[in-house]
Amino acid sequence: MTAAPAVRRYAAHPFWQAVGILVLAYIVVVWVVPLLPGSAIVPKSVVLQYMVTVLVGLLIYVSDNEERWARFKEPIEAVLVEPRLRVARAALLVVVTVLVGLIAYGQVATTVAAPPNLRSIHPAPPTEITFRGKSITLTGLENPLRAHPESLPLYLAEGKGVYYRNCLPCHGDHLDGQGHFASGFNPLPANFQDNGTIAQLTESFVFWRVAKGGPGLPREGTPWNSAMPQWEDFLTEREIWSVILFLYDQTGWKPRRWETEPGKGESGKGKGDD
Ligand code: HEC
Repeated sequence: MTAAPAVRRYAAHPFWQAVGILVLAYIVVVWVVPLLPGSAIVPKSVVLQYMVTVLVGLLIYVSDNEERWARFKEPIEAVLVEPRLRVARAALLVVVTVLVGLIAYGQVATTVAAPPNLRSIHPAPPTEITFRGKSITLTGLENPLRAHPESLPLYLAEGKGVYYRNCLPCHGDHLDGQGHFASGFNPLPANFQDNGTIAQLTESFVFWRVAKGGPGLPREGTPWNSAMPQWEDFLTEREIWSVILFLYDQTGWKPRRWETEPGKGESGKGKGDD
């Protein structure tokens, strides 16, 4: 029964009332609001805005009346000057210092790391591109070299040559994105052995990425500094189609086909199937 009067004393004190309301407001904004139908997680900046608003309201309330203001300041002044609260004072000094340090560190650290999910790794390709002045429709386009099965070994040999002359330093000997230069790039060169790259793409999508490289990425593919070169400046159309044949042949992946999901070849999650 001794606890109850103490609790009531705290509940009647303007300082602890203010603290209680701040905590309550934080709980409501961060945990209760997202539970309401149709709402999502409240962004940190909005939480901060709400908390500042609540704080300003509280300060207006406690300072509105002389007596209340004096009582509000009591615990603050006590912590700052009273000898019996020496330990609390030291603890507060440490906590505030560490907190400011952490906030400062957090702000510096977040500007270094790119926001992870703002970019799309496989953005929607254009339906049509110009390749060295010639326009090519990508939608529904298959690798034209597959139309000549009898010459496939020849094209594969050509593609292999193209790969080892041009792509090796970045995409690596094992097509796993671990070429000699790879560690110098962020984002890393694509790992074609992984089921998240060419295994998910149509050959026309791959053609577009090889032809236009990092500079050809649309807005949703940024902000990131892809080192992938714009190969239309160095390779012919046929060389690109042949290196694409080689990528699929060497990794064993099957390109995604237009038939399986008309008009949406690139964005689905499944592996290419025949
Ligand atoms: C200077 C390094 C470099 C070279 C050389 C290079 N690439 Fe890349 N490539 C990258 C990087 C980095 C990425 C990942 C970022 C991106 O998608 O743009 C990439 C991505 C790709 C992608 C996209 C894969 C996906 O899942 O979207 C394809 C396809 C590709 N490269 C093919 C090639 C081919 C073929 C060659 C050789 C003709 C080549 N690259 C040469 C650096 C390089």
